This record gives sequence, C-alpha cells and structure tokens, in this order.
Amino acid sequence: MNRYHDHVVLVTGGAQGLGAAMATRFASEGASVAIGDVTLDAATALAGDLQQRYGQVCTAHRVDVTDSAEVDQWVDTVAEDRGRIDALVNNAGIIRDNKIDDIDDADWHAVVDVSLTGSFYCTRAVLPHMRERQYGRIVSFSSMSWRGNYGQANYVAAKAGIVGLTRTITLETARHGITANAIAPGLIETPMLASMNAPARDKLISKVPQRKTGNPEDIAEAAAYLCSPAAGYVSGIVLDVDGGLGIGSSIR
Ligand SMILES: NC(=O)c1ccc[n+]([C@@H]2O[C@H](COP(=O)([O-])OP(=O)(O)OC[C@H]3O[C@@H](n4cnc5c(N)ncnc54)[C@H](O)[C@@H]3O)[C@@H](O)[C@H]2O)c1
Repeated sequence: MNRYHDHVVLVTGGAQGLGAAMATRFASEGASVAIGDVTLDAATALAGDLQQRYGQVCTAHRVDVTDSAEVDQWVDTVAEDRGRIDALVNNAGIIRDNKIDDIDDADWHAVVDVSLTGSFYCTRAVLPHMRERQYGRIVSFSSMSWRGNYGQANYVAAKAGIVGLTRTITLETARHGITANAIAPGLIETPMLASMNAPARDKLISKVPQRKTGNPEDIAEAAAYLCSPAAGYVSGIVLDVDGGLGIGSSIR
C-alpha cells in the first residue's frame, strides 16, 4: 500500500518502541517521516534506515516535547522544508510509578509534562499548518489505564487528560478537515513489558480476554488507519488496542 505517498508525518518519541514501529509503518506506506525525540542517536539511525529502505526523506531531530520553543522550531522547520504537515502522532511518554503518597513533585510534573503538555505543545504547533491546507490528522497516546490504575496517579492523570484534549481538539478543528483521535494500548510487547518479572507479567496477561499481549505492529496498524485520509469521518474517539482488557470484566 502507498496510502501515505507525499504525506509528511511527525512522530514524537519515535526513536524506539511503539513510536519506532509507527515511524516504520508510515515510511513503508510512502510517508516522509520526521521523528522528534530526546534520544537522538537511535532516532537518527532509524530515520537513515527508513530513508534508505523506502526512499522518502526521513529525519530525526532532537526535540524535548516539554519545551514549547523546541517543538515550535521542529514543526516549523519540517513544514518549511517539506511544504506540508499531514499528520502528527503524539507518542512520547514516560512512567514514574508510585502510590500517591510517594509521588514527589518532580515525578508528577515529569510524567504529565511529557505526555499531556507535550501533546498540547505539538498540537498547537501543527494546527496553523493543517488549517492552512484544511487537512490534518492528530493521534495522541492515551493508555488503557486512563480509567484509573493503582500506583500510577501521574500517568493516569496524563492519559485521561489526553482523552479530554483529543475530544476538544476535535470540536475546535472539525470544520477545517482535521481529525483528532487517541489510541489506548493495553499490554504491548515492548522492552518495558519484557523487563517485568515473569509472575507479575503472567498475572497481567491472564486478565486479558484474549490471553495474550499485543505487538507494536498492532498499534502501528491502528495509527496508520487513524492518520489516513480514509479515516476522515472518525474524530474524538479513544481506540482501545488491548485485546479486550479495557472492558474490565474478569473472565475466568
Ligand atoms: N508499551 C506499552 O505497552 C504501552 C501501553 C500503554 C500506553 N503506552 C504509551 O505509548 C507511548 C509509547 O510507549 P513505548 O512503550 O513505546 O515507550 P518507550 O519508553 O519505549 O519510548 C518512548 C520514547 O519517547 C521518548 N521521549 C521520552 N521523553 C521525551 C521527551 N520529553 N521529548 C521527546 N521524546 C521523549 C523516549 O526517548 C523514547 O524514544 C507512550 O505514550 C506510552 O505511555 C505504551
């Protein structure tokens, strides 16, 4: 498929994990991808590889999404160099898990700033470019735990905030050909999940109705749909990609 031919797609946190899987998927379907990440070496290696494999211009920029000036400069540079911005994927996120009593100020702000404030900064920066062409796709990363999760108040607040942000972007941009949606992944095979001890991991997997984890490609598939021209009448949703885990019933 070449449904992203001529499209320019920005992916934050694209140096590894789900962001790298999505950057690869977009490039494989013809997109010119711009990765913005604080980890420049891995992002640069990936962008170079994608450009070589798929032929479109793919770049990596050192961008801290919590810094609005860096975000604005990144977005404006990409728009100027490539003439357009079709899609933004707000993927960058971190965790600093603790119970509420033990979350210090720094860990609260770090998690909320990267995931929620970063998504706001990037969205605000791309909107003028998207409005100008009356076209745009914005996908932001929530999590199945946006509904609440023990020991993750900072992460949950950020991921629930993404849902409200997404719904509001929809209301404010719908008349300009722009859509905004969120993806809420469940248990996905990433280095983070692999690093868990086996019993805890197995216990979590036993709660998934499908009794299995997802792959980064499952997330890339969802993002590739939501960012495509074909998804133009889908806006303001939270797409659970979690094997049914978010339903919350305890099937045995
Ligand atoms: N992996 C999962 O199972 C899972 C489940 C639910 C939600 N999510 C969400 O999906 C997204 C990606 O998760 P992942 O597992 O691929 O994470 P990851 O830790 O593997 O990758 C995150 C990327 O974000 C980058 N990043 C961190 N802080 C940044 C900043 N300030 N500015 C720019 N880039 C920054 C990192 O360098 C890294 O490349 C996150 O928002 C996460 O919360 C993941």
